[in-house]
Amino acid sequence: MTAKNGVRIRLRFPERDDLEKLIKFYTTLSDRTMRYLRPYRFTKKEVEVMLGRVDFRNVFSIVAECEQGEIVGEVRLITHETGSGEIGIVVHDDYQNRGIGQSLLREMIDLARRKGIEKLISFINEKNSPALHIFRREGFKVEKKFPPKMTLMGREESVVKLSLHLIK
Ligand SMILES: CC(C)(COP(=O)(O)OP(=O)(O)OC[C@H]1O[C@@H](n2cnc3c(N)ncnc32)[C@H](O)[C@@H]1OP(=O)(O)O)[C@@H](O)C(=O)NCCC(=O)NCCS
Repeated sequence: MTAKNGVRIRLRFPERDDLEKLIKFYTTLSDRTMRYLRPYRFTKKEVEVMLGRVDFRNVFSIVAECEQGEIVGEVRLITHETGSGEIGIVVHDDYQNRGIGQSLLREMIDLARRKGIEKLISFINEKNSPALHIFRREGFKVEKKFPPKMTLMGREESVVKLSLHLIK
């Protein structure tokens, strides 16, 4: 794909030898990007475990790689026992707002459809406008809104559960 500023981005499946690239990706995200992901920074060990879990049966991943070979985005799908697939997505700070998140999400929806997953879900902070925007554009709807909870940062925030039914 060509990102909005003309930069070439390749979407592909991660491989075992992507560990160092993924560690660099996850451990250098800014506080602003981490804000809607989780309160704690990623450790190298966690990134290794995350990569190790990708088996393309229960856990799927697609990464976005820039021309210099660095990983600049990842979308993950984790299947639940209910048969739903939960999607999480991150794009590195300098690469946001160029259409990479939307492309990653679209690719993962296509993959989920091919794998016979019938329902996709994602839990998004109601203030996370860019994420809500890209999920809505793919047809996700709010299935449930959770009551506001105090975050570790002392903010009262609600999370919404978005869902999309895939037609076979
Ligand atoms: C959510 C995220 C993955 C989006 O990635 P991205 O590559 O920036 O996404 P895109 O460029 O494809 O699309 C972003 C859209 O949000 C819009 N947007 C950006 N900031 C916005 C704001 N404050 N309010 C409303 N829309 C906004 C952009 O204009 C763009 O829409 P457009 O294509 O109509 O112009 C990225 O912001 C991110 O990594 N956030 C931190 C992690 C996260 O929140 N993940 C989601 C929960 S799992």
